[in-house]
Amino acid sequence: MDHFEYRNGSLFCEQVAVSDIVAEVGTPAYIYSSATLLHHYNAIAEAFAELNPTICYSIKSLANVNILKLLAKAGSSFDVTSGGELARATIAGGDASKIVFAGVGKTDRELVDALDAGIGVFNIESEAEFENLSRLAAQRGAKPHAALRLNPDVYDPKTHTYTATGKKETKFGVDIERAVRFFEEYGSGPNVMLDGIHIHIGSPIYSAWPYVEAIGKTLSMIDRLKEKGFEINTLDIGGGFAADYETGASPLADDYAKAIVPLLKDTALAVIIEPGRQISCNAGILATEVQYVKTGGEKNFVIVDAAMTDLFRPALYGSEHFVYPAAIDATAQPPERRAGFAAPGGTKVDVVGGVCEGSDFLAKDRVLPPIARGDLMVVFSAGAYGFVMSSQYNSRPRSVEVLVDGAEYRIIRRRETYEDTYAAELDV
Ligand SMILES: Cc1ncc(COP(=O)(O)O)c(C=O)c1O
Repeated sequence: MDHFEYRNGSLFCEQVAVSDIVAEVGTPAYIYSSATLLHHYNAIAEAFAELNPTICYSIKSLANVNILKLLAKAGSSFDVTSGGELARATIAGGDASKIVFAGVGKTDRELVDALDAGIGVFNIESEAEFENLSRLAAQRGAKPHAALRLNPDVYDPKTHTYTATGKKETKFGVDIERAVRFFEEYGSGPNVMLDGIHIHIGSPIYSAWPYVEAIGKTLSMIDRLKEKGFEINTLDIGGGFAADYETGASPLADDYAKAIVPLLKDTALAVIIEPGRQISCNAGILATEVQYVKTGGEKNFVIVDAAMTDLFRPALYGSEHFVYPAAIDATAQPPERRAGFAAPGGTKVDVVGGVCEGSDFLAKDRVLPPIARGDLMVVFSAGAYGFVMSSQYNSRPRSVEVLVDGAEYRIIRRRETYEDTYAAELDV
């Protein structure tokens, strides 16, 4: 679900025509809908209300400080994965005591900053990291809460191997077999309160059953730990709820909650959820202008001014995003946003960027209406893992970000300049 729709042949974000925004800010441009972000945040909050969870929006999916402020105001806390994300969460007004910090490679500086900020829970990924946190906590006279990231050896076969994090042989967390030993070694330590369990089985997870399996294994582990005298107070079930890249293909927050809430509602555990893309994915589009149309052998190419530097997911994971012109014949039916949609009377094209890499494409083999130089194209469902993964490769300045709220919009990150691409190299 989102607030992007065609009206009289023109794509609108909430009450604003995308073409009007672009006329002011240029292309490429990331455009986000406040109403869509809040809709998905509230849907998760309502679906899981019986558990009274702490919802820690996963900053990595869409990190603009203005978006974080919007979500903090709606009641969200944050899942951070670096010192930079902690700085963003803090500046956005996030309550430090509800922030969770994951990541296999936390540096001393990041750990010290997080200890000084008084964050809620350190999600611990290895024995070595626990020992390091314990050492730094003792030095600073702090006694933080920590959760062991358990690797429940569960995964959704539809999840890309690069983002399936719940399997045994990934770099994430500690194998379930090692968990008891971990608690025996560190569970009574004087410097860190090891009283939580964290799982994050991958992203996106397209159905509830992998969570049911992973939570089932985790609850058994919590019982085993209790028998051994280790009391677990907090269970963080991670993120990974899918987003609607293809209409109707992803479950709603309610579908996950229906399966997960019954497993946890009668426990005394404080529950944490770390959704990212389900909140941010459908809330953003990438608007881009057609530069050239050309053919190569049997292929037709539409070359646009956005590239893999703006949206890396197709090159990185082979991800599919629905791509379509922002203006269509006013009498035509709006396109059905789904994989395989073919514009009536259209031509099969690849939509590509101008970067010197064969992997620089935004969409392949799409049947689109006639396209000409100067047309405005839109990549849908680009809010999550879109701008945050952008780079300056080929010395391309990063795109502008715009936030729409009803009939208003504002720039929430200015377009970078050529000077921005080399500023850090001068006078060093
Ligand atoms: C530990 C952790 N939590 C939450 C998330 C968010 O995942 P998603 O955006 O799919 O909800 C991730 C994504 O990689 C993650 O690694």
